[in-house]
Amino acid sequence: MEQLSRKSTNVRKKINLISSTNFYSKVLEQYRSIRTNFNSYIKGLDYQTLLISSPNSGEGKSTIAANFAISLTQQGRRVLLIDADLRKPTLHLSFKTDNTFGLCDVLRGNILLEDSISKTDISNLDLLSSGSIPYNSSELLGSNEMEKLIEKVTGIYDVIIFDAPALLEVADGKIIASQCDGTILVLKWGKTKSDEALEAKKSLESTNAKVLGVILNEKD
Ligand SMILES: Nc1ncnc2c1ncn2[C@@H]1O[C@H](COP(=O)(O)OP(=O)(O)O)[C@@H](O)[C@H]1O
Ligand SMILES: [Mg+2]
Repeated sequence: MEQLSRKSTNVRKKINLISSTNFYSKVLEQYRSIRTNFNSYIKGLDYQTLLISSPNSGEGKSTIAANFAISLTQQGRRVLLIDADLRKPTLHLSFKTDNTFGLCDVLRGNILLEDSISKTDISNLDLLSSGSIPYNSSELLGSNEMEKLIEKVTGIYDVIIFDAPALLEVADGKIIASQCDGTILVLKWGKTKSDEALEAKKSLESTNAKVLGVILNEKD
């Protein structure tokens, strides 16, 4: 779908958000381009729930999920970002929100959805962080409660973006993909091997998930 360059970003062990980037920067332009491709792809179709995943960890899923979400809000869409990477949740750190309660607590019925969603500093962007993660997290993601949660949030937001764990490491990504309208696969230049990319694509297709496109991250 697109290529993202690392040239104009700082290489640090944290996620860089485009909200703190110069308005005319190359990175911002690349996210606009991803958004344009996405908009033209979904024209007239109902793609409200999206999963961002990749074969392995560290390939840029969370970075792209967060920045793509921000980029959609800049067109006036109300967006909910959900941290469903229960193995390595990071979005609450990037957006500096509380993670006492989140997705897992809602799914376990410990708190109401509306009480666990955090506002972010970006207007029109809310975050549902991971919350406290139980041992049976995969079962939770495939539960009826998850279905109910998706039904509820699609009535409130224009777009819902799920950040998921690596497809080749745990089944969670596949489980969520089967419940989403589409999946965007992130591949990292120089890191993701072609057989891993194919395996990830196959694993998504085996659950009838729809792969909308691929983002090649970090190509100079
Ligand atoms: N295009 C990029 N340019 C520079 N750094 C990046 C880029 N994409 C990701 N990173 C950095 O790489 C690290 C891993 O990215 P992350 O989004 O957390 O991956 P994942 O969610 O797939 O594990 C983070 O420190 C992030 O800031
Ligand atoms: Mg991540």
